[in-house]
Amino acid sequence: MTKYKRTLVTAALPYANGPVHIGHLAGCYLPADIYVRYLRSIGHDVKFVCGSDEHGVPITIKAKKENSTPQQVVDKYHKIMGDAFNEFGISFDVYSRTSSKIHHQTASDFFSTLYNKGSFTEQITEQYFDETANQFLADRYITGTCPKCANPNAYGDQCEKCGSTLNATDLINPKSTLSGNKPILKETKNWFLPLDKLQPKIKEYIEQHKDWKANVYGQCRSWIESGDGLQPRAMTRDLDWGVAVPIKGADGKVLYVWFDAPIGYISATKELLPNNWEDYWKKDDSRLIHFIGKDNIVFHCIIFPAMLMEHGEFILADNVPANEFLNLEGDKISTSRNWAVWLHEYLQEFKGQQDVLRYTLCANAPETKDNDFTWKDFQTKNNSELVAIFGNFINRTLVLTHKFYEGKVPIATNYTKEDLLTLEELASAPQKISKAIEQFKFREAITEWMNVARIGNKYLAETEPWKLIKTDEERVKTIMNIALQISCNLAILAEPFLPFTSKKLFGLLNIQPLNWNAALQTSNIHSGHIINKEELLFAKVEDDSIQLQLNKLQQSKLDNAIPATIKEIKVETTFDDFTKMDIRTATIVAAEVVPKTDKLLKLTLDTGIDTRTVVSGIATYYKPQDVIGQKVCLLANLAPRKIKGIESQGMILMAENADGELSFISPTKIQINNGSEVK
Ligand code: 2FM
Ligand code: ZN
Repeated sequence: MTKYKRTLVTAALPYANGPVHIGHLAGCYLPADIYVRYLRSIGHDVKFVCGSDEHGVPITIKAKKENSTPQQVVDKYHKIMGDAFNEFGISFDVYSRTSSKIHHQTASDFFSTLYNKGSFTEQITEQYFDETANQFLADRYITGTCPKCANPNAYGDQCEKCGSTLNATDLINPKSTLSGNKPILKETKNWFLPLDKLQPKIKEYIEQHKDWKANVYGQCRSWIESGDGLQPRAMTRDLDWGVAVPIKGADGKVLYVWFDAPIGYISATKELLPNNWEDYWKKDDSRLIHFIGKDNIVFHCIIFPAMLMEHGEFILADNVPANEFLNLEGDKISTSRNWAVWLHEYLQEFKGQQDVLRYTLCANAPETKDNDFTWKDFQTKNNSELVAIFGNFINRTLVLTHKFYEGKVPIATNYTKEDLLTLEELASAPQKISKAIEQFKFREAITEWMNVARIGNKYLAETEPWKLIKTDEERVKTIMNIALQISCNLAILAEPFLPFTSKKLFGLLNIQPLNWNAALQTSNIHSGHIINKEELLFAKVEDDSIQLQLNKLQQSKLDNAIPATIKEIKVETTFDDFTKMDIRTATIVAAEVVPKTDKLLKLTLDTGIDTRTVVSGIATYYKPQDVIGQKVCLLANLAPRKIKGIESQGMILMAENADGELSFISPTKIQINNGSEVK
């Protein structure tokens, strides 16, 4: 830290296409906020920037789904997300947005600078085009089978199962998500960043950062080392939503969202500090830190640094502390399956309890591996730690101070060995917590913080002031003074993690918030000072409210389950196999029950080509007289077979409901002659 005069902390710009959930918080925003609050508290010059990522295909997909425009979508979610972050105490200095004018200008200028320097290569490539929708398909509009892990639902830019970054043309069996059709390849011109040529410089940069978290450094290495190494990447796209490409001959094209989004960090800083934003981006004594989730590593560690290197005026990130993913109750968090804890809902349902979630998410952060959030653990962390350890210590201290001294802080005299040991432990806490935070080990940091409350509880349990007051009033004054000093230091050290609680505790102690360095002292509350009446900082979370949350999740499961009565889709078939089947429309012209059976009807069909006999197992549901004149679909080229001595020359198609009842499938709406193809 000492080497640097100022720090710019960025948190990944979330796509403005849905509300914030606990996975976002645990992965990126909460650790970033803790880090920033800590830096502020030690008096370091830090700025914390974020904003909504309002371009990109997720937005246009959402707009299509909601039958609205991309601008309407981003306006709606920018507000929802910004409000939720704010209410949760994520203390951005600015929460900007990439549809803003300042961002369009900044991103556009950045592109022009690189363009004028000749950084891009121009390439005419074949891109997927949906002939039905009449548009080029962005990567996210194409799904197919991942060539690396065979996941059948990989996107054109990334496989979310194995984490590989892909080109759309790598996908096996590509499909347009707009029409469901197989897209065609069509030529288009785009501007590429030649990452292959930049690879040596990028490699050198990565190799200077062996200190990065193992998951981050490891992923960067494997990007660079694997296969043919880095490949040129298109920085423009054929789309109509985004920052227009600011050069001639680029009509109908916008900047690649991963080109414009990280520039959003620069735009946000400009918005915050119109006059001195450059200090944070261009001075060597400034430090840049990107907090992100693991799916963003390549963009922040390779592509954005490559862009900044090419530009030439900017510093590069000194660290990119990416977290792994948080799961929920043993399952991957999913917006589409509503398998999530939504922040705005939490804030409604657990009013005033932001810090319980902050505590749980930090204590259980997916720092080195994916982790699981469970409501049971949330309850335990609240009841057995926040209430039983921290809350209990504070409450006992405040209650006894009022009981013995009417809230007036007693004077400490004659420290015993036990007192000195406790004070020593208390004084060593800030360094331990600082060290952990500075190494991005937030779980360790919050554990060390809770250990301070444990020190306090142990001290009270051993000294028993409630008993001693009867025999040694003088000694109890010292004990209670020390307990109050511990309480005060807990308030200071809580601020980065539990800002609401820290503020409340300072209020109860009736002192102005103190900064981190004060916690190096163990005499922050003076004798004679009057504290306020105790109030519970944390209440028990009861089983009922946990059950309510579990029920909600159970409901999501039910809503999204494939009903048991609906059979699973059979193994994939090919289009070629499908076209081998010749299905035609036909009309039943005669029908009779097959003798000695009760399920079979012998049907005579006019196929428009011939008249033929088909034996069909529909007699349970249809009488012969009911089906005459019925239009049907017939699998006409099925090999004939004998059923009860009658040659059946095809099969009519029926839909079956959960009770096994059968319904004809027949043409509707327009006139379809017999013999028409069904395809
Ligand atoms: O993954 C995401 O949600 C992206 N919107 C993150 C962008 S981070 C930055 F580059 F803007
Ligand atoms: Zn894959």
